[in-house]
Amino acid sequence: MAHKIAIIVGSLRKDSLNRKVARSICGLRGDNLDCSMIEIGDLPLYNQDLDANPPEQWTRFRQQVAAADGVLFCSPEYNRGIPGVLKNAIDVGSRPYGQSVFDKKPAAIVTASPGAIGGFGSNHQIRQACVFLNMPMMQQPEAYLGHVTDDSFDESGCLKEGPLKDLVTVLAHAFHDWVEMIHRSRQLLAEDAAHAAQGAKEHA
Ligand SMILES: Cc1cc2nc3c(=O)[nH]c(=O)nc-3n(C[C@H](O)[C@H](O)[C@H](O)COP(=O)(O)O)c2cc1C
Repeated sequence: MAHKIAIIVGSLRKDSLNRKVARSICGLRGDNLDCSMIEIGDLPLYNQDLDANPPEQWTRFRQQVAAADGVLFCSPEYNRGIPGVLKNAIDVGSRPYGQSVFDKKPAAIVTASPGAIGGFGSNHQIRQACVFLNMPMMQQPEAYLGHVTDDSFDESGCLKEGPLKDLVTVLAHAFHDWVEMIHRSRQLLAEDAAHAAQGAKEHA
């Protein structure tokens, strides 16, 4: 079954490596991950004063995330942490209080960097925010993609054959299965609850 996936890229750079990784993932699982890139560069900085009358960009972003079955974060690391533009998007989506569009959405995180440790610090800061926001986070495979450069991609911007593409392929399959499992489990639980309620009614 195809799942709608909102991809949020934590880099605004035109030639972003993380955006290329995100595109490669969409290409790898085009059959059952229906991916949309959700733009975050135009989101005004989060300000609680604006909650009563939110900017249209916030509303657009919230609607796009709300419509998805799962969220995939592909992000660089900035100064050993989460890029500000991505943190702002997470904050925007998480509010107003009690109306977070991230609530219960299954998610996964990929961080890519030319550096050796593949954005480990950023990856875990994103994870921390998402766990707080009640998002079931895929645990494995972890994706700290190190030594990623322009040369990791072909002319069409997709990952070249090799260990990096192999890891990303495993991740794309695992993410599909993760989203499927979360939604299917909820559906079965809802069916069980409805069945139990019907049984209780009949015995009353
Ligand atoms: C402000 C800034 C801070 C950075 N800090 C880190 C860092 O902490 N760790 C790291 O691996 N790379 C760091 N980099 C390098 C980025 O990994 C590199 O620019 C990468 O290409 C950015 O991702 P993108 O290609 O998706 O835009 C930093 C780059 C910038 C612009």
